[in-house]
Amino acid sequence: MKVLLLGSGGREHALAWKIVQSEKVEKLFIAPGNAGTGECGENVAIAADDFESLKKFAVDNGVDMVVVGPEDPLVKGIYDDFKNDERTASIPVIGPSKAGAQMEGSKDFAKAFMARHNIPTAKYRTFNGTNVEEGLRFLETLKAPYVLKADGLCAGKGVLILPTLEEAKKELKEMLGGMFGNASSNVVIEEFLSGIECSVFVLTDGKNYKILPEAKDYKRIGEHDTGLNTGGMGSVTPVPFADAAWMKKVEDRIIRPTVDGLAEDGLDYKGFIFFGLINVNGEPMVIEYNCRMGDPETESVMLRLKSDIVDLFEGVAEGNLDQRQIEFDERSVVCVMLVSGGYPQAYKKGYEICGIGDVKDSVVFHSGTKEVDGKVVTNGGRVIAVSSYGKDKDEALAKSFAEAQKITFTDKYFRRDIGQDL
Ligand code: AMP
Ligand code: GLY
Repeated sequence: MKVLLLGSGGREHALAWKIVQSEKVEKLFIAPGNAGTGECGENVAIAADDFESLKKFAVDNGVDMVVVGPEDPLVKGIYDDFKNDERTASIPVIGPSKAGAQMEGSKDFAKAFMARHNIPTAKYRTFNGTNVEEGLRFLETLKAPYVLKADGLCAGKGVLILPTLEEAKKELKEMLGGMFGNASSNVVIEEFLSGIECSVFVLTDGKNYKILPEAKDYKRIGEHDTGLNTGGMGSVTPVPFADAAWMKKVEDRIIRPTVDGLAEDGLDYKGFIFFGLINVNGEPMVIEYNCRMGDPETESVMLRLKSDIVDLFEGVAEGNLDQRQIEFDERSVVCVMLVSGGYPQAYKKGYEICGIGDVKDSVVFHSGTKEVDGKVVTNGGRVIAVSSYGKDKDEALAKSFAEAQKITFTDKYFRRDIGQDL
């Protein structure tokens, strides 16, 4: 079959790497892809949210399945757009409908969903321009620190955690006043939860589901979780505290009620669900839902998936995921992200990347790269992910660390402590 994968980051390179290992796949296209995905298939210069061009390309090239990497096309409704066009109605799109993608697209929608289905999460209320005063009074009833979330998509920047009531009040007024444009015309205020986070991934056909290996990502730029937030500096799987007993709680209290809740609410959902969880004194609670895989979690999780991912996708499309097999590699995997100096603030692009071919003991995924005149150059803040197996996380980290040194580009930076807090 011919598969079209959408997106251009490390997550998409990892998905592409896994998809082309399937014997079912004769051809993989990636739109728009990066220098790394170009080694797994054919990059196509179409943006992941240019639905008209994507549909035309799919029809002209006999595409049998579309796999969506990032949230943006899902929240904009690519699933519905393909389904409602007679030319593409028979091509399955792996990813939820526009209504289902609201689980990520609107924090208020996700919180109301969890409340309706008794899924454990922080207490909250949502405010808008008409009840700012009430919002300020609600803040007074909470304890520091204060969590404010823009309702809509903000490319990972819409959550503020403020240490004092004064700052929280000021930021609430600014958010409702248009700090994140329309995305913050509604603001969720919620109780602060204290604990370690863990990402759990599920693939669902809307009725049945398979749980993928869990992972932890590292969001801060500095070692020991210091400094500014980034798109993710690395990931580790498995997560030691997510043992069988904890995962049973996650499945019983969170995963099954979510999948059943989506069906009950009539939300068409055939794709990945990313549960951003936090372990509060041994009890899992939901911080957020995403309607796609995580980045950089995918760059470690894909190494632990032994089964054919395209077979699982077919199960999603056909509604018989319960009849598909899923098997995992028991080893640990650590992914270390190599980033451009200066990131997540201003940084330069276009530096030549050398040494990728010397990496023998790890899998390299391109995150922000492009090919210029036969050379691979940096093209983003997060540049390359280096993922390695180990008998435990220490061995996996040591390998990623050693291999990461072989790859060179000007101002390269990476964290050496991925997984070390667990
Ligand atoms: P979100 O976009 O909802 O995942 O929030 C971004 C990050 O903010 C999360 O990964 C957490 O680290 C933190 N966060 C969000 N909500 C809470 C909360 N209620 N309590 C503590 N930390 C939170
Ligand atoms: N790693 C977090 C995310 O993909 O949103």
